[in-house]
Amino acid sequence: PFLTLACTQYDDYPEDLEQLSEDERLVIRFSHVVGEDTPKGMAARKFAELIKERSNGRIEVQVFSNGTLYKDVEELNALLNGNIQMIAPAISKLTDLVPELSVYDLPYAFDSMEEVHEFTESKAGNQLKNLLKQHNLIVLGLWDSGFKQISNDTRPIEHYKDLKGIRMRIMQSDILAEQYRTVDALPRKIDFNTVFQSLQKGDVEGQENTLTNITSKNLYSLQKYLTISDHGYLGYFLLFNYDFWKKLSTEDQELIKETLEEVQEWQWQIAKELNDQKLQEIEDCRCIQIHYLSEEEKKDWEKRFSPVYDYYKQHFGNYYIQNLPKYKD
Ligand code: LMR
Repeated sequence: PFLTLACTQYDDYPEDLEQLSEDERLVIRFSHVVGEDTPKGMAARKFAELIKERSNGRIEVQVFSNGTLYKDVEELNALLNGNIQMIAPAISKLTDLVPELSVYDLPYAFDSMEEVHEFTESKAGNQLKNLLKQHNLIVLGLWDSGFKQISNDTRPIEHYKDLKGIRMRIMQSDILAEQYRTVDALPRKIDFNTVFQSLQKGDVEGQENTLTNITSKNLYSLQKYLTISDHGYLGYFLLFNYDFWKKLSTEDQELIKETLEEVQEWQWQIAKELNDQKLQEIEDCRCIQIHYLSEEEKKDWEKRFSPVYDYYKQHFGNYYIQNLPKYKD
């Protein structure tokens, strides 16, 4: 499958590249699970285009979207095994490997994307990212999806008590499971590419995700109620297989790092714009009943979720929580 896709997608190389040997060319296979029109999908393509242009076609980033090559857990294993070189998974999906990372999953851990960015670049954030090196992974950036919202088919969720008894799809993260257990909902860890079918079959009644994911996978067509809760961050670490990375020349490493830095700035902007745009579209379609949590309600929810913080502290200590921008003085 690699070869066919690579040829159809990248058949416009300059002539002289034909003369490059396999050793001179560099192929980076980049697999992800979301659609092309999402903040991650768009940034992946932009990164591939810029790298191709800046390396005169010598470095080829092959992007495989929508989980066509590997699904959630598979893509991480494929990266660890070196079958692919790059992924951008939701940080939640790295928490089985490095559970401390689930600080990003804590409900209302961040009040803005700027806080997420600040934390990720801080000393504590860098310590967290470095924990992945023990697993042969290097983090070269952070892309946003946005804040998660809650949709379901059972009843309007206006108060956290309304979540009681509802089967909710979550990503593979124990803290997310704890978040729903705390309010007596029933969390189910389900692969992103099967969420639609799971909602359709009624295996779960609800789910949490960013608006760009909810719309690009048409999840809202199966749901009656949407709560704009902004209760948790969803974002991605740009991960390379570390052995692969170390073998690259310094020049190639520099080119990739600089390009990723530039794409990251652009990606943060696009993520914001797309989420706003999708909210507008959902409001305009009048196809789902929307409840917006007020600031006061959000404070209430945040308080109710404090046992999730206790759970985190019990298992992984207080250090990373203390260093979240909102808890630093
Ligand atoms: C999800 O599983 O809901 C998301 O992590 C998908 C994604 O990569 O945005």
